[in-house]
Amino acid sequence: MSHRLYPLKKQRLQRSELAVPASNPTMIDKAAEGAADYVFLDLEDAVAPPEKEQARKNAIQALNDIDWAGKGKTVSVRINGLDTHYMYRDVVDVMEQAGDRVHTLLVPKVGETGDLYMVEAMVNQIEMAKGFKTRVGLEALIETALGMANVEDIARFGGRLEAMHFGVADFAASMRARTVNIGGLNPVYPGDQWHAAIARMVTACRAFGLRAIDGPFGDFSDPEGYKAGARRAAALGCEGKWAIHPSQVALANEVFSPTEAEVTKARRIIEELRAAEAKGKGAASLDGKMIDAASERMAANVLVVADAIAG
Ligand code: GLV
Ligand code: MG
Repeated sequence: MSHRLYPLKKQRLQRSELAVPASNPTMIDKAAEGAADYVFLDLEDAVAPPEKEQARKNAIQALNDIDWAGKGKTVSVRINGLDTHYMYRDVVDVMEQAGDRVHTLLVPKVGETGDLYMVEAMVNQIEMAKGFKTRVGLEALIETALGMANVEDIARFGGRLEAMHFGVADFAASMRARTVNIGGLNPVYPGDQWHAAIARMVTACRAFGLRAIDGPFGDFSDPEGYKAGARRAAALGCEGKWAIHPSQVALANEVFSPTEAEVTKARRIIEELRAAEAKGKGAASLDGKMIDAASERMAANVLVVADAIAG
């Protein structure tokens, strides 16, 4: 292990993250009653320009009126991008009027660390000015070629950054990849055309103590396609995935929850290693397979999620 360590900055249960256009208060109310671990109130791409101001007001009202934490949820707001004139007003109004109610801000299309620096500086000032005791977190959406080219630098930003998300739709657009689908596999590609990008983002996340989250899958009438994508993301180290439709929440919760068999196996690994240790051995065998200290670290990851789900 390197002498320099970047432990996970913030543990949050984020198996399912439901995207809700803040222009639609009915959907916000439903989201609050649903089973998503996380809800993000969207001010960005799901909101048409004429709706932007009302959506911002709705988000602020929903943050103040709904007891998100009491409902066991983390609530986030996706602000508009730094290349728009909505962004500064999103940060100022949401933070001034509900900065002690929102848990994180999701910053879209982050291209370089300066983007996060700007949001962080604004948030710092507003929290100080308002005397909030709470501290909002930041999450970065990696969804442009520039963001991916700089993803390690962005992950190293520090500050309030606690998670990064892979935004496959904008990434496809930015890369001029041959598709018009939001996520999913391209049948002419031998394998998963998003593999390299997600793997790179997840590595950057894990190197610098950030949670890694997979973004949207647009075909909400294809639950099997959703689950397959979620499983691929989980295999690489993502701990959750967006739901762009309420029906996808249960699918994400299922895929990103360790099964009972996985939890039992994790506990048995730790027990066997304790017993081996008592006999002065570092390695042991379980079900005909060698296990050692690395197995214990993998098992601990399973148990952290299981404990978080248990509450
Ligand atoms: C999410 O914002 C995406 O572009 O996939
Ligand atoms: Mg996007």
